[in-house]
Amino acid sequence: MLKTGDIVDRYTVQSVLGHGGLAVVYRVRHNALGSFHALKVLSHPHPGIRNRLVREGQAQASLRHPNIVSVTDLFAVDDALGLVMELVEGPTLEQWIRDGGGTLDEVERLFGGILDGVAHAHRSGMLHRDLKPANILLQPGPQGFVPKVADFGLVRLLDVPSGNPGASHPGALLGTPRYMSPEQYRGDVVVDARTDVFALGCILFEMACLRPAFDAEEIPALYHRITRGEYPDPASLVPDLPERFGEAIRGCLAVKVEDRIPDTAALARVFATPPAPPPGVLAPTTPGPRRLAILVGLVFLALLTAVLLVVGWPRSTPSVAPAPAPVVVAAPPAVEAPPPVVEDAVPVETVVEVAPAEVTRMPARRSSKTDPAPVQAAPTRSSGTVRFTGEAQEAWLVDGSGGRVSAGRVSAGSYTVRARFAGGPEVAAGKVTVAPGETVTVRCVAAFRLCSRM
Ligand SMILES: Nc1ncnc2c1ncn2[C@@H]1O[C@H](COP(=O)(O)OP(=O)(O)O)[C@@H](O)[C@H]1O
Ligand SMILES: [Mg+2]
Repeated sequence: MLKTGDIVDRYTVQSVLGHGGLAVVYRVRHNALGSFHALKVLSHPHPGIRNRLVREGQAQASLRHPNIVSVTDLFAVDDALGLVMELVEGPTLEQWIRDGGGTLDEVERLFGGILDGVAHAHRSGMLHRDLKPANILLQPGPQGFVPKVADFGLVRLLDVPSGNPGASHPGALLGTPRYMSPEQYRGDVVVDARTDVFALGCILFEMACLRPAFDAEEIPALYHRITRGEYPDPASLVPDLPERFGEAIRGCLAVKVEDRIPDTAALARVFATPPAPPPGVLAPTTPGPRRLAILVGLVFLALLTAVLLVVGWPRSTPSVAPAPAPVVVAAPPAVEAPPPVVEDAVPVETVVEVAPAEVTRMPARRSSKTDPAPVQAAPTRSSGTVRFTGEAQEAWLVDGSGGRVSAGRVSAGSYTVRARFAGGPEVAAGKVTVAPGETVTVRCVAAFRLCSRM
């Protein structure tokens, strides 16, 4: 930990700005220029974490955008690494929400900036994967706060095919539990822009409703809520919430990726303010028959024009065909791709939690000739059968007296499920009660392999 007055490289430490999970961020002054910056120094010696900071620096340095914290230098600080960033003087979005947030107009303006920053990262081929209020910094400006996306520590290149070094290791689940998408919880190898879209939905919900979309004391309960899409209706919490906010939140938080708003451009369209009607024109309400007829006519005309533009005007009238308006296609910004991302093995000593075991039951049935043969030994009146599925290397039950019980026939009663996942220590994975004659299937899934904060 550095102290006020310490000199590191060309900078003098002034104060601590914040603590992250893996780093301390200091306010520093450049000794020659007198300019102020933020210096992020790792507090965790693991080489994988060190590589992550290098990646974070390279990614953030290649992104130039008013809504992304810029990075200017990277150097050794004793045996750790330090990343020099633009200094953001205001609170984090997390503190802003905690302090009561702002009006819905302000929410709209700030969220629009966050969306612009994330959209720029996506256009440049980078997924953030750890978007949350604590990673959005607010820079005070003449027009109010300017939001800046920070902490690209979990950045990943988009469109990296699975099997390539850029793909995550299956099961290496990264992120912050409250803002992780269902597919991040599942440990899907390939995640795309929709994972960041999910986190943006959590952020918009929290900015508008001043409480997290998904909240629970325990990680297993949070896991259940996120993977089942259980969150309160934002309109019930904020009665004057514009419908497009609700639509954007619902579209972002869809559990199935294929049902989710596909990208930041589509989210911006859903969230955009409807254009104000020109002066003297009444805002459209439900179309009356006359307006409907005009609308149908207009749509037909538009379709006809589109068809003609694609197919070409009829040959018989080439000379009178108006030249189609030139179509301007915005070229993607030239970005120098950073070196390929190599996901490091996550330190195994930081296993903190597993998903609660999922339990399915088959009640005792009367045998009949058509019943398939039982897979396990037939349960008796005082016993049931337990089997384990999932990705645990080893799983077992522990009874009230601490005795270890393996899969197969077990006495009816209550047990704790314990499991061990590849390379990790044994962990508790929930509880199960076995009724007489019942066949219970316990599925154990590793949920967290990185020390993660709520
Ligand atoms: N550029 C910056 N300017 C001002 N404060 C910052 C800056 N970057 C980070 N911080 C502060 O430090 C905290 C942790 O930084 P962050 O990059 O999120 O670290 P971690 O990767 O460990 O989560 C932030 O929540 C914020 O309070
Ligand atoms: Mg952070």
